[in-house]
Amino acid sequence: MKQKIAIIGFGTVGQGICEILLKKSNFLKTKYQYEYSIVAVADMVYGNVFNPEGLNIPTMLEQAKARQKFTKDVTTMDNVTLIKECNADVICELTFTDLKTGGPAIEHCRAALESGKSVVTSNKGPAALKYAELKALADKNEVSLKIEGTVVAGTPVINLTEGPLAGCEIHKIRGILNGTTNFILSEMEKGMSYNDALKVAQEKGYAEADPTGDVEGYDARGKVTILANIVMGTKLDISDVSCKGITSITSAHIEEAKKQNARWKLIGCVEKKDDGKILASVAPEMVPLSHPIAGVMGATNALTFSTDLLGDVTIVGPGAGRHETGFAILTDLLNIYKK
Ligand SMILES: NC(=O)c1ccc[n+]([C@@H]2O[C@H](COP(=O)([O-])OP(=O)(O)OC[C@H]3O[C@@H](n4cnc5c(N)ncnc54)[C@H](OP(=O)(O)O)[C@@H]3O)[C@@H](O)[C@H]2O)c1
Repeated sequence: MKQKIAIIGFGTVGQGICEILLKKSNFLKTKYQYEYSIVAVADMVYGNVFNPEGLNIPTMLEQAKARQKFTKDVTTMDNVTLIKECNADVICELTFTDLKTGGPAIEHCRAALESGKSVVTSNKGPAALKYAELKALADKNEVSLKIEGTVVAGTPVINLTEGPLAGCEIHKIRGILNGTTNFILSEMEKGMSYNDALKVAQEKGYAEADPTGDVEGYDARGKVTILANIVMGTKLDISDVSCKGITSITSAHIEEAKKQNARWKLIGCVEKKDDGKILASVAPEMVPLSHPIAGVMGATNALTFSTDLLGDVTIVGPGAGRHETGFAILTDLLNIYKK
């Protein structure tokens, strides 16, 4: 049976998952007997559309590329009504992240789960602020809540700990959780000032016009909160995670690290101490060059899981991108389909 999908937020990731599904449909059908139909899309820019038999996605992608509104299957239903009334099995929540209030994404997730639909999201808002409530709702209604894309895009993190690392107890997770800051620190090591490196990051599309969320460490703090609660099973509020960004790092700091055979990295960390106490933080650290994550440069992310049975396991990969995050959505959709 086809998996019926609704997409809320048709931006970079929303379009990215559609492109992947179109391009890989034969492969997915042959390898996993996976078939899908996208029945609803809601977006602030392009409008809301619904067709229970399936939308014309190639045309919608062309319209989005031309920044034109959707013209076919247009509906007057607002997002929440559309989520509740459409015939989708899974809602992909792909609107903007708001780490203060969660934004409309929380309401979108609630509406989906309450109406018996699974949720797949790369939006850190619901995952960092309301995961426990939403997961309880998902369990009550016997549907899934999947959030692989919220931490390090499609590089496996949540699914890694729930799948291949299942059975291991993880007592520490530590690493580079924000590509923009890692890129800036890498450029500073080549001799650039902080301001010049930030400008390059903005030109390359890594940093937004307002880079506060990245450079002050707030984005990484959201991810640490998610890892603490979902992977380590704690009940941490985002405000419990101490947070310092990279804005105070100067060229002098970079030179000092070089002298000590080390390198500055913005490190997110959550650790379960022997007495059960949880420490969670985001802060710049001088990492010795001998550590696997010291060599991770540019916009790449890396995480080391400290486990009881395997010791340290480090995973390195992209932490953002249209198809890199689209892949996280695909992997969650497939996991729900295989269930
Ligand atoms: N891009 C990445 O590499 C990446 C990686 C990991 C996680 N994520 C997360 O994935 C989510 C999607 O990211 P993105 O890069 O695709 O963002 P994006 O390009 O900004 O796309 C979001 C889309 O949703 C629309 N939107 C905003 N509010 C909406 C609402 N209430 N109802 C319907 N549509 C709404 C936006 O319209 P407007 O433009 O008018 O706001 C925009 O078209 C975000 O939460 C992001 O943090 C992204």
